[in-house]
Amino acid sequence: MAVTILAIESSCDDTSVAVIRDGYVLSNLIANQEIHMSYGGVVPELASRAHQANIVPVTQQAMLRAQITSEEINAVAFTRGPGLLGSLLVGTSFAKGFALAKDIPLIEVNHLQAHVMAHFILEKDKETRIPSFPFMCLLVSGGHTRIIVMKSHLEMEVIGNTIDDAAGEAFDKCGKVMGLPYPAGPVIDKMAKAGNPNAFKFAKPVVKGLDFSFSGLKTSFLYFLRDQVKENLAFIEENKADLCASLQKTIITMLVSKVVKAVSETGIKEIGIAGGVSANSGLRDAMTEESEKRKWNLFIPEFRYTTDNAAMIGITGYYKYLRGEFCGQDVAPLARF
Ligand code: KG4
Ligand code: ZN
Repeated sequence: MAVTILAIESSCDDTSVAVIRDGYVLSNLIANQEIHMSYGGVVPELASRAHQANIVPVTQQAMLRAQITSEEINAVAFTRGPGLLGSLLVGTSFAKGFALAKDIPLIEVNHLQAHVMAHFILEKDKETRIPSFPFMCLLVSGGHTRIIVMKSHLEMEVIGNTIDDAAGEAFDKCGKVMGLPYPAGPVIDKMAKAGNPNAFKFAKPVVKGLDFSFSGLKTSFLYFLRDQVKENLAFIEENKADLCASLQKTIITMLVSKVVKAVSETGIKEIGIAGGVSANSGLRDAMTEESEKRKWNLFIPEFRYTTDNAAMIGITGYYKYLRGEFCGQDVAPLARF
């Protein structure tokens, strides 16, 4: 019998609902919250309110697009954390209510695990390359920067982590200093294409082992701009493309060098990237180049499955369903997971 999962993602500023059947995406809808753009970052209170307004219509649309009725849903998977507590509460409460009303199992999903699991999403009428185990994934998002080893679909070990800011934060905070809207990552990516990546050099902190640190880069970038603007008020405007390209290159070099180190330490050559920053074209190119040079088997998810989406929650929920890993109605969201 087919297994149909309704999946809910509401950890940050995107309300997303997906329907997954036997590992295949039937629908994956995302309502973006543009309201945060003018604030230079996500405003938690506004995010929760927007989730509250979006969640029912997005769910209705997701079921309509998937051409299913609520009777066909076998379980509800939802993001339990990590994320903004008020945002998570909306998705969690909605999922609980749905499961209770339909008397079907509830499945809690860790958002970070789901980003990595995005590599296992299947699409109808499309060949998808799926990694084999052990699989090593660089997870780079707005809140996290990790190197994760997967031994099976649901068994993961974190072997590298950021000791301060995440890579996405480095993009967003440096972008804010340049006056770019939030999130700055995609804007920097676009502008970098017209710039010289070797125009400026920024400090790259040395961190032991497989861990990362990005807060020093942010400070070095800020001080550099402050000094330059003292000399020339139009410095940022006149050099925006070069600044974006140089900043992006610095972040990518820091990320890729740790993956190279992780491969040499673990011997794993089945490699993937996941999370919002894995949409970055420079990172995709650098990882592709490195994998050709070093004979890695590289996996890069489709753009729509890199940033926050419910399909990744659904695929994780599907594998948990197969193992009977359900949770009770007493489950509470977790800001840190
Ligand atoms: O995974 P995600 O959608 O949300 C979190 O779980 O955090 O990641 C969002 C992050 C933001 O920091 C955003 O600036 C970054 O991903 N991002 C990018 C690109 N697209 C999104 N960073 C660099 N280049 C991009 N093309
Ligand atoms: Zn995310």
